[in-house]
Amino acid sequence: GKGTYPYYMIKEIDEQPAVMRKLIQQYQNENGDLEINESVLSEIKESDRVYIIACGTSYNAGWVGKQLIERITGTPTEVHLASEFAYNTPLLTKKPFFIFLSQSGETADSRQVLVQVNKAGYPSLTLTNVPGSTLSREAKHTLLLHAGPEIAVASTKAYTAQIAVLAILAECVAKYNGVDSPLDVAHELGIIANAIETVIDDHEIFERLSVTHLSTSKNAFYIGRGIDYYVVMEAALKLKEVSYVQAEGWASGELKHGTIALIEDNTPVISIITDKVSGPHTRGNAHEVISRGANSMIISMEGLDRQEDAYVLPKVHDLLTPLISVIPTQLIAYYTALHRGNDVDKPRNLAKSVTVE
Ligand code: F6R
Repeated sequence: GKGTYPYYMIKEIDEQPAVMRKLIQQYQNENGDLEINESVLSEIKESDRVYIIACGTSYNAGWVGKQLIERITGTPTEVHLASEFAYNTPLLTKKPFFIFLSQSGETADSRQVLVQVNKAGYPSLTLTNVPGSTLSREAKHTLLLHAGPEIAVASTKAYTAQIAVLAILAECVAKYNGVDSPLDVAHELGIIANAIETVIDDHEIFERLSVTHLSTSKNAFYIGRGIDYYVVMEAALKLKEVSYVQAEGWASGELKHGTIALIEDNTPVISIITDKVSGPHTRGNAHEVISRGANSMIISMEGLDRQEDAYVLPKVHDLLTPLISVIPTQLIAYYTALHRGNDVDKPRNLAKSVTVE
């Protein structure tokens, strides 16, 4: 049950530090090294490209996964929406390896792609929270998310669990391939578990931001670049689905190519700045929207912060910042929905697992 929590969504947001710790434990062997079934690693080693297939929040996690797999293992990786891939299949390389990301393991759009992949005889791996689910049974391999049941329709802990498992997988592939991993994933996930706790302890800050800036607004924008762009896509989806505020997640550099026309007096614009290289450019874009009247809120990371920022995230490893930068955006979606009087756990028109195409 949800215990003392008013909604499952906030309970599940709160569970994320424990999920990170559980994952380290689940994927560590007796020597304390991260370990994944060798048959998965050898198939990825033999492949010339990884194709990640998913929908919704899992698709957004897939983009972070692409970055992790490419930076940690050097294997080119593409991310595709299942519903697009099924009918508009891209040109595949000679030795593709497919990763299906699905919290429920029951999403029909993703399953349809898996059926095609199996028919073509390509190797596949499902990352899912549900052992024995359809996608788990039908893919060649499965890795579990160990996030515990996710009841709220809006996915939170499955997103962070997917990213963490993809990081673990990438490190194991790198090791198997004899490549030096740029990070010690188990160690970094431990740091992240503590950092998530710090951010959740500051929940009142995000509740106040939501009440002041989002509870009556008709629209909102999230902007970011690089790894922060992937997170703003998820931030906007979460805000839309539970609060019904029309939200867009944009690559900050693209604003001036059209979307900036929507900025009026008091339009909320939330910038995520954790990426060292592109962060200063996003800050510049935030100033451009401020000069057009926007209500700017900057969420930055220690080391990239300025006096003007609404919140400064604890520092974590560069490749894993989505695990921490997504937390304020989950809390903002939750509190905005709560203060608008919505049924947070059961947003209108949505189902927890989408078993129709
Ligand atoms: C968003 C959400 C959906 C799911 C999507 C895929 O909060 O829950 O966008 O992420 O329907 O579901 P799974 O991961 O179960 O395949």
